[in-house]
Amino acid sequence: MLNQIEEAAAYISSRMVQGTDRSGENPAPQFGIILGSGLGSFADRLLDPVSIPFEAIPHFPVSTVEGHRGRIVAGRYNGLLLMVLQGRFHYYEGYSMDQVVFPLRCMLKLKVPNLIVTNAAGSVDPAYRPGDLMLIKDHIKFHGDSPLRGPNIDAFGPRFNDMSDPYTESVRTLAKETAQQLGIGLTEGVYYYMAGPSYETASEVRAIRILGANAVGMSTVPEVIAAAHGGMNVMGLSCITNMATGISGQVVGHDEVIKTGEQVTEKFIALIEGIIGKWATQPI
Ligand code: HPA
Repeated sequence: MLNQIEEAAAYISSRMVQGTDRSGENPAPQFGIILGSGLGSFADRLLDPVSIPFEAIPHFPVSTVEGHRGRIVAGRYNGLLLMVLQGRFHYYEGYSMDQVVFPLRCMLKLKVPNLIVTNAAGSVDPAYRPGDLMLIKDHIKFHGDSPLRGPNIDAFGPRFNDMSDPYTESVRTLAKETAQQLGIGLTEGVYYYMAGPSYETASEVRAIRILGANAVGMSTVPEVIAAAHGGMNVMGLSCITNMATGISGQVVGHDEVIKTGEQVTEKFIALIEGIIGKWATQPI
C-alpha cells in the first residue's frame, strides 16, 4: 500500500507547479482541499492551474458520481500552492476505505500540512436551512469500517491514534472570526457519518439527532480520520443542501443536493478564500 501511495505522490509532485525557489524542487502545497458535491467550482479560482485527471495517476481509483469531476487541480492562490481535489471516492461506490483515503494519503506523503474538506449534508437540526454553511466541530461514526483498519502505516501515525481534536480548534476559531468579518453566516455543528447510498429513514434521522449530531452525510469522515492519523491541521465545512428525511416533510433527492451546492458557491468560495488567507499567516 505504501509503495502505491509513494508512486502516486511522486507522479502528482512531478506534475505540480514549479515553486519559486531556486533549487528547482517542487515545494509541498500548503493546503489540500477536497471539494464536495456541487462545490467543485472553487478550483477555477486558482492561478497557473495544473489539472491532473484521476485516471492519469498511478493506482488512483476513478470517480463515478455525477457532480464530481474527478481530477486534482494544483495552483496558486495568494502566493500559496494549493492542491485541490475536484471529486472524491465514496465508500458507497464500492471502494474500500483504503481507496477512499488514497488521495489523502498522497497528501500526507507530499507533506501537505493543512486540509480543508467540504461536503454536502442533510440537516437533522430543524434550526438550519438549506444553503446554510456548517463548520464541523466534531463527528460521529458508528460505522464499523475504518481507513486505519489493518496493518498500521507507521510512517503516517500510531496504531491507536488520538481523536480529541480532529477538526483543529484553533482553525475553527479562525474560521468563525473570518465568517463574522465577511458577514457570512456560519454555524458550528456535529457531522454524522452514514455509509449510504440510501438517504436516511425518518427514524434514523431522529436517532442521529438524539445522539447529538446536527447534520448527516456520506463522506469526509474517512478522510478526516486518515488526516488526524497523519497529524494534519483540519477544517471541515458542510453545505446544508437539504433537510434530512422527516425534518421538513420533503423527499430528499440528489438533484436538490447538487442545486443547493451550486447556489451557495459564491459565499462558500468567499469564506474559504478568507480563511486560507488568515490560516497561512498565523500560527495554528
Ligand atoms: N443524507 C445523507 N447525505 C446527504 C444528505 C442527506 O440528507 N444530503 C446531502 N448528503
